[in-house]
Amino acid sequence: MKGDPKLIECLNGLLASELTAINQYMVEAEMCENWGLAKLGDMEQKRAITEMKHAETLIGRILFLEGLPIVSKLNDIHIGAEVPQQFTNDLAAEMTAVRGYNAGIELCVKLGDNATKEILEGILKDEDAHVDQIEEQMDRVKKMGLQVYLGTQM
Ligand SMILES: [Fe+2]
Ligand SMILES: [Fe+2]
Repeated sequence: MKGDPKLIECLNGLLASELTAINQYMVEAEMCENWGLAKLGDMEQKRAITEMKHAETLIGRILFLEGLPIVSKLNDIHIGAEVPQQFTNDLAAEMTAVRGYNAGIELCVKLGDNATKEILEGILKDEDAHVDQIEEQMDRVKKMGLQVYLGTQM
């Protein structure tokens, strides 16, 4: 099914943000592991895998719409040097994703493409959960202090 070029461009933009997130989270997960923060590393690794599934879904949809998936384009990767910076950078990445998926959904409505809209809505739910997850960690750091929080993440 031939898709609207604007929609394919939009999906490729979302794909770039997913591929960026995968790289950012994978590196951060390994950093956490290195610091002995296995629990936190696990959480970030799981998030990276979810983003990989999103990328896979987007690639599938672009191909279905007879577009060309662009996997060579990454946005700027912001790797936090310490845990609090990781949270700040990851939250920014997730907020960008949320905005992007909302814009994509809007475009689908405009084009009357309900199937793609549903796909994007499914991914948006995951991104919402990621925002929630990161905000919860930041909240815990605020409440218990960084050192105590890190102690719970080994
Ligand atoms: Fe994602
Ligand atoms: Fe996400």
